[in-house]
Amino acid sequence: MPIIAPSILSADFGRIADEVATATAAGADWIHVDVMDGHFVPAITIGPLVTRAVRDATAVPLDVHLMIEEPERHVADFVEAGANRVTIHVEAESCDDPAAVLRAIREAGALPGLAVNPETRLEETRPYLRDIALLLVMTVHPGKGGQHIVQGWEERVAQVRRMREEAQASFLIEVDGGIKAFNAAQAVAAGADVLVAGSAVFESQDYAAAIRALRGAA
Ligand code: DX5
Ligand code: ZN
Repeated sequence: MPIIAPSILSADFGRIADEVATATAAGADWIHVDVMDGHFVPAITIGPLVTRAVRDATAVPLDVHLMIEEPERHVADFVEAGANRVTIHVEAESCDDPAAVLRAIREAGALPGLAVNPETRLEETRPYLRDIALLLVMTVHPGKGGQHIVQGWEERVAQVRRMREEAQASFLIEVDGGIKAFNAAQAVAAGADVLVAGSAVFESQDYAAAIRALRGAA
């Protein structure tokens, strides 16, 4: 059974606590929190203060996805705000020692993850495979919700699965972007353990039905 992680990016931020509580009651396994800084990606979303409000609205793990430069400056604040998992991007240019940031996440008390964009060689992640608890395969270009999944995504997920075996590593494989009930089974077949779904859940009329559809399809 895949882990279903609704992304609050498509939620109604005027009612964020209710939205998170509703998604939790509807069966969300984790809540996925998309943090954007206006540098790593053009958009700006939220920071630790809103993450704290999300934390207070649910008991399930918070999966914080940092689409930001200089993640080393902020990871401790997100853990302090209640993140259980913190994922940084291998492409963050400012960050010349991702291993140190991954260690800092663990030392702060959360599980470290590494995210990789669609155009980045998966090889870039290889040095870190035994340091991470999760590898997030971006299945859209980061920056906004509701996009169409990129071509070739399944092969990349399958390649990550092979890399995990070769490295004898044990991280979870997460897919993020464009995941819907109709491609959830393909994602799991390719090797995904965690399905992030923003618009598929928060733009539906019935979050429980949407989460069931994702899980059931897989
Ligand atoms: C994209 C974010 C994703 C996105 C998922 O930059 O990382 O989490 O919001 O949204 P959907 O499921 O609508 O593609
Ligand atoms: Zn995300």
